[in-house]
This record gives sequence, C-alpha cells and structure tokens, in this order.
Amino acid sequence: MYTSRIIGLGHYVPDNVVTNDDLSKIMDTNDAWIQERTGIKERRFAVKGTEDTTSGMGVKAAKIAIERAGIDKDDIDFIIFATLSPDYYFPGPGVMVQKELDIKTVGALDVRNQCSGFVYAISVADQFIKTGMYKNILVIGSELHSHGLDMTTRGRAVSVIFGDGAGAAVLTRSEDDSRGILSSHLHSQGEHAEELSLIAPGMGKRWVNDIIKDLDNGEEDTSYFPYMNGQFVFKNAVVRFSEVIMEGLLKNGLKKEDIDMLIPHQANLRIAQFIQKKFGLGDDQVYNNIMRYGNTTAASIPIALTEAWEEGKIKEGDTVVLAAFGSGFTWGSVIMKW
Ligand code: ACO
Repeated sequence: MYTSRIIGLGHYVPDNVVTNDDLSKIMDTNDAWIQERTGIKERRFAVKGTEDTTSGMGVKAAKIAIERAGIDKDDIDFIIFATLSPDYYFPGPGVMVQKELDIKTVGALDVRNQCSGFVYAISVADQFIKTGMYKNILVIGSELHSHGLDMTTRGRAVSVIFGDGAGAAVLTRSEDDSRGILSSHLHSQGEHAEELSLIAPGMGKRWVNDIIKDLDNGEEDTSYFPYMNGQFVFKNAVVRFSEVIMEGLLKNGLKKEDIDMLIPHQANLRIAQFIQKKFGLGDDQVYNNIMRYGNTTAASIPIALTEAWEEGKIKEGDTVVLAAFGSGFTWGSVIMKW
C-alpha cells in the first residue's frame, strides 16, 4: 500500500499591495470596518495585462514547488488545478500550466470547488497516488479575483474580502506509511449553491448576449459579480469547519491536542479564531495570513501552508490539518503526518 506525501511547496502573490485605505478611496468602506469584520489589512491585486493571470501565477508557484521537491518537470505524471477564476471559460488552466512548463502529455484536471478546491485537489491526488496510478502529482490553487469584483460601494461586502495569488504542492508516492496523507474528507450541500455564487455568464440562466442585451437596454446588472449571503455563509462555515476537522481526527484516532498545525482556508479571521478557540489551540497551532492577502479562495491553503513551512512552523512528524469551507457549499479536511 502506498501513501502520498507533499515534498515541495511554493507560492506566488502579485507585487501590487492594495490596503483597506486604498479601497476606501474607490468605495464607501473603511479600514476599521474591514479589519473588525474580517481581519484583513491588505491584499494583492494583479495588474491587468501582465503575466499575473490565474495560470501565470500558478506557474510561478509551481516552479518553486517543483524545484523544492527536487524533481524534474518531466517527472510529473499528472496536474491538478483548482480555481474559480480560470483564464478562459474553457479550456481550464491545467493545460495552460502544462504548456507554460513544457510538461509532456500527462493528464491535466481542473477542479471547480472554490474555497475547498485545494482540499479536493489534494484528496484526488492522494487517491491517484495510493492506487499506484501516478507517482508525482503537481497540485495548484490559484485565483485572480480582482478583475471580476464589483469595485463600487454596491459590491463592498464582497469585494473587500478577496485577493489574488497562487500556491502549489508536489505530492509523491511513498512506501513509508508513518508519514504523509492519513485521510481526506469531502462534503457538499448543493441546496445552498446560490448563497455564494457567480451566476453569469453561465449556460443555466444568463449567457453573455443576455447580459449585453440588458446593458444596452440600460438595465443595471450585477449577475456577473460574485454574490454572497455573508451571514448565512459565516454561520454554516463555523459549523462545517468544526465537523470536518473532528471527522478527520476521529478517523485517525487523534484528539484535538494532537494537532500541531491547523491551516484553515483563509475566509475570515473571525472564522479561524472561532475554530481555534473551539479546538483549544494556541496561536502557534493555527496559521493565518488573511491579514496580508485577503481571501484567495483555492490559493489560500497552499499559500498559508507554504509560508508556515518556510517559517519553520511545520516539522517532520507533525500532525498537520487542512480544512476548508466555501461556495457550493463544499467543505473538507486533510489530515497529514508531516
Ligand atoms: N465597508 C463598510 N460597511 C460595509 C461593508 C464594507 N466593505 N460591507 C458591508 N457593509 C455594511 C453593510 O451595508 C451593513 O450595513 P447596514 O447594517 O447599515 O445594513 C453592515 O455593514 C453589516 O453588513 P453584513 O453583510 O451584515 O456584515 P457581516 O458582519 O456579515 O460581515 C462578511 C460581512 C465579512 C462578508 C461576513 O459575513 C463573512 O465573513 N461571511 C463569510 C465569508 C466566507 O466564509 N466565505 C466563504 C469562503 S468564500 C468562497 O467560497 C468563494
């Protein structure tokens, strides 16, 4: 029986720092409101027309992860790319990464699970490695939110939260079952699909020509901006985060005290703090960087995991827990022995 293990991590964020004060110049918001409700101080926004696209940022993160893994790009057997903000409607960014990195004709899979995307992607990679189908898998989470947000007062409840960036991990097959991914746990609840969504353009309700027609008729249209029922999402998030972390611990006969490092999806610092308190974890047992990057959705866990590792906060033998909740609703956790 094989296990899978992360052997390389990398992240990339655009240079352009956007503070809460910067946002308050273009919409009716303020630093105090944003920090108090979300913990966010600043985020990175990619500059349009640069190579910082969703796949471009993913490539930069992937190059670092591959180098740190000590493998060659030609050793990669499969690519998994998680995002809700792809470069193109189709094809997905997995093949763009393959092209940019000049990787041979291995499979490239795109994951559409929003904030839970990286957790889902790691779980998929783990299954492929455990069955022996692939040895080395490149997993990327990357988002370019800033070009698609409603940057007016109308959209402030959503647009102040999100930021751009990418993170990547290389997973490899291992025969040492004392380390690596112990289990992953995935859930979804489609009845709440529209509570956190971007409806148009989509084949379901409104395609591009419907949007253009309404705009031509002078009708206001917000269907192509993300919508979030913030308080409803918040309430569900705190419950599901707790449940799915507990599920992972129980599956492995672990207790709360066994968690050395929890990397929660960076949705809102208040959510992470609630979970920290509920699980009785110290500040050194939970990694947060939402203050600096905002919510980077599928990229938030790999960025945070990379930074925690770079800062020496994750050591060999540690029990590391990844947990996410987001649009879908989807949620999940990964339990690892580092
Ligand atoms: N600046 C100033 N005031 C604002 C802003 C802003 N940016 N945004 C909203 N307000 C105002 C509202 O208009 C409202 O004013 P009113 O009371 O006069 O009507 C007031 O602030 C409160 O608004 P709420 O939306 O109720 O604020 P809330 O406390 O719920 O905080 C937030 C909003 C931060 C979005 C919170 O609900 C949240 O974090 N929700 C969960 C987010 C999450 O976990 N998402 C999942 C991952 S994302 C993904 O999957 C893509």
